[in-house]
Amino acid sequence: MNTQAIGIFDSGVGGTSVYKEIEALLPFENTIYLADSANAPYGNKSAEDILKLSIKNTEYLLNKNCKLIVVACNTATTNAIKVLRETYSIPFIGIEPAIKPASLNSKTKAVGILATKGTLSSDLFHKTTDLYRNDVEVIEQVGEGIVQLIEAGETLSDTMRTLLKPYLKPMLDANIDYLVLGCTHYPYLLPLLLELLPKHVKIIDSGEAVARQTKAILEQQNLLNTSTKLGHHEFFTNGSTKVMQALLNEKHTVKFLNF
Ligand code: DGL
Repeated sequence: MNTQAIGIFDSGVGGTSVYKEIEALLPFENTIYLADSANAPYGNKSAEDILKLSIKNTEYLLNKNCKLIVVACNTATTNAIKVLRETYSIPFIGIEPAIKPASLNSKTKAVGILATKGTLSSDLFHKTTDLYRNDVEVIEQVGEGIVQLIEAGETLSDTMRTLLKPYLKPMLDANIDYLVLGCTHYPYLLPLLLELLPKHVKIIDSGEAVARQTKAILEQQNLLNTSTKLGHHEFFTNGSTKVMQALLNEKHTVKFLNF
């Protein structure tokens, strides 16, 4: 059981930012990553369609005998994880925007959140935000078009810079001191965000917390891989292997999969 892989899926290449945290914390685990890039972005789809795609991705990873699945997509987590957990018996780890640490630590009492429409309009996002925002103003911004550019390999382009500026402006006007990245694609924007934001604004995402939670659940359920050999990692996409390969270390090979 313990050598079975951890399955990871996202609407596309963004979840590789979460994969990297998992690999760093759990180096002996085997992983299988599935990028549904042909259907990206999920963020503008209905909750029903997001659920259907999440089920399709889950079934693929279950057929590969995964012992646990990380839903490395805020949009799929906020819209589908409840049903996935009710439907399948293996553990699911989800990712949600880090509103709690941002609100707890904000000195200016204003935090920004950049996420997809699907995440910001979900019930789960509103519940979590209401629970943790306290007296902090949360400035929500849909990152329309960002995922598409990253999927096209234009992550740090001038087009991206131009797209981001008006998204950040209302947050800066509100004097935020934290920017929460509520989409697993967005950590790849870090160089641009650092350039566009004043130094005192801290940027946070939930990738590391997801890796810690994955470890905790594997331990709790006796599913840890006790091998001392570095894990084996497989990457599949139904989109561009080139775009995904560019985000990964060259020791990994991305395979095209028609699913
Ligand atoms: N990486 C996904 C997320 O975390 C992107 C969603 C999309 O495809 O719009 O939300």
